[in-house]
Amino acid sequence: MKEPIITFKKVKKNYDETVVLNNVSFDIEQGKFYTLLGPSGCGKTTILRLIAGFDEASQGEILLEGKRVNDIPANKRKVNTVFQDYALFPHMNVFENIAFGLRIKKVSQTIIEEKVKEVLKMVQLDGFGNREISEMSGGQRQRVAIARALVNEPEVLLLDEPLSALDLKLRTDMQYELRELQKRLGITFIFVTHDQEEALAMSDEIFVLRKGKIIQSGTPVDIYDEPINRFVADFIGESNIVPGNMIEDNCVEFVGKSFECVDGGMKSNESVEVMIRPEDLSLTTVENGKLQVKVDSQLFRGVHYEIVGHDDDGNEWVVHSTRKAKEGSRVGLSFEPEDIHVMRFNETEEEFDARLESYDEE
Ligand SMILES: Nc1ncnc2c1ncn2[C@@H]1O[C@H](COP(=O)(O)OP(=O)(O)OP(=O)(O)O)[C@@H](O)[C@H]1O
Ligand SMILES: [Mg+2]
Repeated sequence: MKEPIITFKKVKKNYDETVVLNNVSFDIEQGKFYTLLGPSGCGKTTILRLIAGFDEASQGEILLEGKRVNDIPANKRKVNTVFQDYALFPHMNVFENIAFGLRIKKVSQTIIEEKVKEVLKMVQLDGFGNREISEMSGGQRQRVAIARALVNEPEVLLLDEPLSALDLKLRTDMQYELRELQKRLGITFIFVTHDQEEALAMSDEIFVLRKGKIIQSGTPVDIYDEPINRFVADFIGESNIVPGNMIEDNCVEFVGKSFECVDGGMKSNESVEVMIRPEDLSLTTVENGKLQVKVDSQLFRGVHYEIVGHDDDGNEWVVHSTRKAKEGSRVGLSFEPEDIHVMRFNETEEEFDARLESYDEE
């Protein structure tokens, strides 16, 4: 494996008594798109600030390209940041905003002109150099902010919720553009969001954070398909979660029945949580259903109907279906063994990975 471009080793950050990051460890590989995902206050911005060098770790080590940088100032790190509010200079035009960093470094006018032109092209703002910032739309300002970071040719670009101010359509367009740009340039992007769909759509790797800890890391598909616990399952996508009992490998009991599943490596009769995604459930007759529910409500969501019902134990079940159901009626739900995801209580990521590995090998 290539040497990681950024490494965190048991990094802690606290402000007086308040612990903001608690033993955060990870490796970032060159050229990939990483996303830090988690609720407000979980420590996302703090991680970016530590990488950029705007803050110091209280404990642990931060390495850039294998070298400890805890004591290296921000301006000596090959890292650039795009802030949530873009932080553009309102009294300078687009060209001067982008050129600012180069002027400080005393780069010659000819080279500045060349470089600014080049990055304007990259973000598809050719010919916008003379525009005032006030004459640019939200999405265009966002691209100016990215161009201003790119012009310094960083190896790592940190983006702190750069799309949160944009409306949905523009946001989706920008997600696509950013992803394309990252692939084309081969720069490492570390992107912060609390929008799970954005994280799933854009990332090579996602770190899910909660209260200053990384709860789970992996590809979007890994995390969506194998969430480690209720928090991740709920945070990423919609899910139905009910209490269950792991009878033995490949057999789990919930709602008073036992079902074939693909999970294992737990204690026999261990209490677990069982998750099934709404899109993995299909409607069928009461007789043919593996579960029976009474339909409480139905909403038309465009691509599918969202049907909410409850079973005889009172558990709520959400189903995404292209078929309609009748409010008040009883229906059957069917699903496959691989649609059942069994989650343990309080399993750490190391334990989870080790269990999946040992179990998959059998
Ligand atoms: N200078 C500071 N002094 C004290 N506490 C701070 C300071 N900076 C951040 N914190 C606290 O650290 C925690 C993490 O903050 P951080 O900004 O990293 O969260 P975040 O995940 O980026 O949240 P958001 O999604 O709201 O931007 C918060 O509880 C915050 O109040
Ligand atoms: Mg933040």
